[in-house]
Amino acid sequence: MIATRILGTGSATPGAVLTNHDLEKMVNTSDAWIRERTGIENRRILEPGRVTSDVAAEAGAKACTAAGISPSEIDCIILGTVTPDMPMPATATIVQQKLGAPVGAAFDLSAACAGFIYGLGIGDAFVRQGVFKRVLVIGVEILSRVLDWKDRNTCVLFGDAAGAVVLGPERWEVKPRGILSTHMLADGTQWEQLYIPGGGSKHPTTSATVAENLHVVKMNGKAVFAHAVRNIASACQTAIDANGLRAEDVDLVVAHQANLRIVEGVAQRCNLPMSKFYINIQKYGNTSSASIPVALDEAVREGRVKEGMNILFCALGAGFSWGSTLYRW
Ligand SMILES: CC(C)(COP(=O)(O)OP(=O)(O)OC[C@H]1O[C@@H](n2cnc3c(N)ncnc32)[C@H](O)[C@@H]1OP(=O)(O)O)[C@@H](O)C(=O)NCCC(=O)NCCS
Repeated sequence: MIATRILGTGSATPGAVLTNHDLEKMVNTSDAWIRERTGIENRRILEPGRVTSDVAAEAGAKACTAAGISPSEIDCIILGTVTPDMPMPATATIVQQKLGAPVGAAFDLSAACAGFIYGLGIGDAFVRQGVFKRVLVIGVEILSRVLDWKDRNTCVLFGDAAGAVVLGPERWEVKPRGILSTHMLADGTQWEQLYIPGGGSKHPTTSATVAENLHVVKMNGKAVFAHAVRNIASACQTAIDANGLRAEDVDLVVAHQANLRIVEGVAQRCNLPMSKFYINIQKYGNTSSASIPVALDEAVREGRVKEGMNILFCALGAGFSWGSTLYRW
């Protein structure tokens, strides 16, 4: 049997740090409120002049190095983002150019904060079917460029980052390693809870859409919170059940870092202790599709990931789109 393994991980976070105290000077908020309600202390903001594909290529190059391969061996790039360099072409193709990867498949995937989970699911199917041999899955988001910096309900939550993994096939006889399952879901009845109205066919960019502030994130925080806890917990349980495991068999959970209280709610519902969750939201805030691969890369580099571990990835984002992946390291 063929399984898909993560051959290497990489991440790139911009150098500029925006603290809660910095935000106190921009909107009517406080460090105490942000910490208590979200767990966030800092977030990273991309320097002017740099773009999504720059950070994505940096994370992708590091993942290739960690995998011990050259970008010239990558035959498919799947890039999850809602903040591309521009509407056309796919940012994945620009990353392909910046990495010096050869002609192959390269496309963007729009599943918001669930983008990395969807990317793993699609990449896994490609690898197991022999369509591609070295798939680079990237989650990247430059949300600082689509936030309303006057809206305290949203601007305190998000940050910029990129994370990446290289996927490749491995043959197994007895006990599989690698991606054991991916579950991808969406509920389009909820799309208006979290969206950017302007810039597409519904509201093409005009001076009026700019004046009406349509090019920034709009969010119903309470609704997102409730759906996130419920749906992420349900996706985690689905992954555990689908693999014939119990909660205690899960060794590490790398969940989307949207709000520490969401993660705590998921932990409680799934009977998983918080000590099994890797948390770095305090450093980066919510970096959408980048949050899981950045957290995974840090967990790997800190030595928290050990051979044979059952690792659960899970996320929910705009759409709502959500899902889970169970991975045996
Ligand atoms: C946004 C969120 C942190 C708000 O936390 P909450 O506990 O639900 O807070 P509430 O919505 O009850 O708001 C409480 C009050 O705080 C205020 N508030 C909102 N943002 C604030 C901020 N940054 N600083 C201070 N006060 C703030 C609200 O205006 C509200 O005031 P009011 O009672 O006078 O109207 C929370 O709902 C959340 O995390 N939602 C999910 C967001 C998310 O993860 N989005 C991305 C998904 S991938």
